[in-house]
Amino acid sequence: MDVTNKVALITGAASGIGEGIATTLSKNGAHAIIADINLSNAENVSTKLTSLGLKSSPITLDVTDIESVNQCVTYVLKEFKHIDILINNAGTVGSPGWESREVPNENDWDLIFEVNVKGIVKMTEAVQVSMINNRYGKIINIASIAGRQGSERNPPYNVSKASVINLTQSHAMQLAKHNINVNAICPGLLWTPIWERIGNRRSMSPNLEELDPKQLFLNYVEEKIPLNRPQIPEDIGNLACFLASDYSINITGQSINVSGGYFMN
Ligand SMILES: NC(=O)c1ccc[n+]([C@@H]2O[C@H](COP(=O)([O-])OP(=O)(O)OC[C@H]3O[C@@H](n4cnc5c(N)ncnc54)[C@H](O)[C@@H]3O)[C@@H](O)[C@H]2O)c1
Repeated sequence: MDVTNKVALITGAASGIGEGIATTLSKNGAHAIIADINLSNAENVSTKLTSLGLKSSPITLDVTDIESVNQCVTYVLKEFKHIDILINNAGTVGSPGWESREVPNENDWDLIFEVNVKGIVKMTEAVQVSMINNRYGKIINIASIAGRQGSERNPPYNVSKASVINLTQSHAMQLAKHNINVNAICPGLLWTPIWERIGNRRSMSPNLEELDPKQLFLNYVEEKIPLNRPQIPEDIGNLACFLASDYSINITGQSINVSGGYFMN
């Protein structure tokens, strides 16, 4: 899984899965650019990596804002000359106050689509120009098992992640002639700040309110995951690193579950 001297731009890398992917890529030789809307968390993650002797830099990025996207990509290209790997990981489950709403409102739909879907479009369009010039690129989108099957819980999130799976195929078709691979990963259940928000919301349901969010998460893992354990950010990092390496040259347009068997299609 050698990615030595590759430049990897990872969105939403200041927390959870993005941090796990950045850690794995940098341990395997890449320079990990920690791009996040939360700059101070991005700086903390980057400092953690460099203190381990790994290559990393922080940068501010709002994937919903085209100016921020262009500034980020321009800066990285100026500093590092190329971007070999783009990880579209930034994501959200709802707009502020989402936890206390029974039904997602229009702000939730809009923000979820702006971040989870259109954010990937903006980032991919900005980065692909230099990848096309170099005739080389690996783009990895973080979708979700929520995109595999509709459910009564949080339709905007589920629909956004189904869109990511379809978008991955569309971008893979468009970019294949430029030697750019585009794939997605569908993580299962990981205890990160996103799941804390989901757990908080569920613990507000009348019949579940005696359970704390972490206990709800663990019960859900036990109920749904055949391997009977949660996934961790490094699990997603390991697959991302494989997809970012040259071992994956003939894999494109795929969405791969890392869910302990929760989903098998
Ligand atoms: N945790 C899970 O169980 C799980 C399961 C499946 C998929 N996912 C997906 O994995 C990805 C990472 O989620 P996580 O669990 O690590 O959550 P997280 O909340 O820990 O990380 C999300 C990161 O994205 C950043 N972000 C949010 N909006 C942004 C924006 N507009 N621009 C740039 N950065 C922004 C946040 O600041 C945060 O650092 C998301 O796409 C999520 O949907 C998570």
